[in-house]
Amino acid sequence: QKGGYPSFMAKEIHEQASAVADTLRGRMENGRLHLDEMKIDPALLRSIDKIVVVACGTAANAGSVVKYAIEHWCRIPVEVELAHEFRYRDPVVTEKTLVIAISQSGETMDTLMAVRHAKEQGAKVVAICNTRGSTIPRESDAALYLNVGPEIAVASTKAYLGQIGACYLLGLYLAQERGNFFPEEIAEIMHDLEGLPDKVQAVLDNAAQVEQLAHDMADATSVLFLGRHVGYPTAMEGALKLKEIAYIHAEGFAAGELKHGPIALVDEGQPVFIIVPSPRGRDSLHSKVVSNIQEIRARGARTMVIAEEGDTDVEPYADVVIRVPATRTLFAPLLTIIPLQIFACELATAKGLDVDQPRNLAKSVTVE
Ligand code: M6R
Repeated sequence: QKGGYPSFMAKEIHEQASAVADTLRGRMENGRLHLDEMKIDPALLRSIDKIVVVACGTAANAGSVVKYAIEHWCRIPVEVELAHEFRYRDPVVTEKTLVIAISQSGETMDTLMAVRHAKEQGAKVVAICNTRGSTIPRESDAALYLNVGPEIAVASTKAYLGQIGACYLLGLYLAQERGNFFPEEIAEIMHDLEGLPDKVQAVLDNAAQVEQLAHDMADATSVLFLGRHVGYPTAMEGALKLKEIAYIHAEGFAAGELKHGPIALVDEGQPVFIIVPSPRGRDSLHSKVVSNIQEIRARGARTMVIAEEGDTDVEPYADVVIRVPATRTLFAPLLTIIPLQIFACELATAKGLDVDQPRNLAKSVTVE
């Protein structure tokens, strides 16, 4: 059942190239998106003036990634909110709000209650879900399924990539239906999306480096994760993985926040993962993050840097460089999270823990 892997989590991590391909399959044709499941009137999609993403845990981190893409492509404000917070704070939701509810299981009670609350206010709800026939898609106006196959391990991995992939399809579809794009632009983005499974596989093919790192660090008691832009939610997700299965104190920060407090945590030997944006980006984020690495290294941090192939700027300040293939900035989260998933999985395995059934956690949280 585990296909020769020591845990379902390891198996599911290594299935991620085909998982992403499965999420994308059959939904793009001749340079256009066809989301047959989107049973919401296109006129209504054109009238929405705000998107709210509701989700919990890993699904919420996926939502935080896709906010960057949907705002960029659709020019609609996107709020991402933990479902349990959304429900209880009298949020501003109208008939012109599109709510995206992300849930692997489709049964998370906090997310379901947020969906019900949004519908009561007249909003339309699209569920991004893996489990067909589950409650959240049944109660939503439309559902887009991940198609990544059952996820058994409590720690979510392939569903996270599927959630980002499905939300990207939804974002592109919205942009297409609202006329935000020239057809050739959308075709180019879709072409790059289709190339992602091969790049995911390339990262997985390099797993041995991260596995070794995890074994060397089996005694770590605290690990920090830094990222900027889409690297920020990636840092949060990397930290969540390590907490939940390896029981290690882990925190994800926005790298720009470092000097506003978290840098006080950095002392001799503190392990820090840094997700570095592409040096080809339009802005100066790359150099800013390289300066962050320099700053924490000067304070004794052990720096483990996830950087694009060919980015030599990071080398003088990195104890370890983990390479990922170059891609669009908005697609990088589908690659940069993989070493962090492997790290958590291997470290927990090295500690002799039950990777698939971490203490105190359930796969699906069906109570509020
Ligand atoms: O089934 P859902 O996607 O709604 O679950 C949401 C969270 O409970 C879930 O992502 C949780 O955080 C995972 N254990 C993370 O690995």
